[in-house]
Amino acid sequence: MLEKIKNMLAEVEQLHANSAEEIEALRIKYLSRKGEITALMQDFRNVPADQKREVGVKINELKNRAMEIINDLKASFETSDGDTADIDITRTAYPVELGTRHPLTIVKNEIIDIFSRLGFSLAEGPEVEDDWHVFSSMNFAEDHPARDMQDTFFVESHPDIILRTHTSSVQSRVMEVQQPPVRVLCPGRVYRNEAISARAHCFFHQVEGLYVDKDVSFTDLKQVLLLFAKEMFGEDTQIRLRPSYFPFTEPSAEMDVSCTLCKGKGCGMCKGSGWLEILGCGMVHPAVLEANGIDSTKYKGYAFGMGIERIANLKYQVKDLRLFSENDVRFLKEFEAAN
Ligand code: DAH
Repeated sequence: MLEKIKNMLAEVEQLHANSAEEIEALRIKYLSRKGEITALMQDFRNVPADQKREVGVKINELKNRAMEIINDLKASFETSDGDTADIDITRTAYPVELGTRHPLTIVKNEIIDIFSRLGFSLAEGPEVEDDWHVFSSMNFAEDHPARDMQDTFFVESHPDIILRTHTSSVQSRVMEVQQPPVRVLCPGRVYRNEAISARAHCFFHQVEGLYVDKDVSFTDLKQVLLLFAKEMFGEDTQIRLRPSYFPFTEPSAEMDVSCTLCKGKGCGMCKGSGWLEILGCGMVHPAVLEANGIDSTKYKGYAFGMGIERIANLKYQVKDLRLFSENDVRFLKEFEAAN
């Protein structure tokens, strides 16, 4: 047996081939199920017990060496000149499909870019939040309807743990760890218990802004928002502020921009009014400052919050909110140019 192995090893060491077919024939001759080395291995059964060890080692060596030699032959053949003749190295490469940024990311980045030029830094908070940060610290009364099951998703068995309904919770997260001056922008996803339709979804995205310092006034807020509107929708954009109510601001306002389609003349998109609502804002309620550890006799602040989908709709006239979360590449590809 040892003799046979030795002879076959010598034979294998001499192998050579001139084509892929010849290499395959060698593989079949030695290593296939009916190959000569395979047959030797089957004979191993009959080797006396006291020789098994030595013969086993040699047979394995033979098999590994044969595999190595045949693989080397294959490799040298594949890279040899003869076989590359039909590869056209001047041919243009296959195009690589590039992805595009999601339209909501494009708009979010644009908003961040505008406010970061005004000195705002970024802050983020958790989407699964407690009642304190979403509601109580933001001056929502115990019986405020927004706390209702109708609007808010609760984490089962934890009446205190909810999915945040707005990014205003991040205001609280920032103020509780940072004394003024505070100037942050807080983008993120929010959740509301709404039936999904073209105009509403159970999750969407917001950007919150907060500025707290000495002597902050409503005029500062208005000026910053005017600048934002012009940067976002064009230099000729106008804004108007309408009195409104939010528990966490006093006074509160909603801001409209002149219609991005008809420029204020009145059209289908602005329902003939010439104006489009884009955000809520106001002066931070002193109770909110106090609840978050900031002295309201020393500091004042303004805040604003806007929906990213809303801004994207106005910029790109997306008619159906659901498109933003369906991941249809045909829709996403339409934003290639904006990337
Ligand atoms: N949190 C409000 C909402 O989800 C938006 C908002 C309004 C945020 C006024 C603010 C603000 O910071 O001052 O509808």
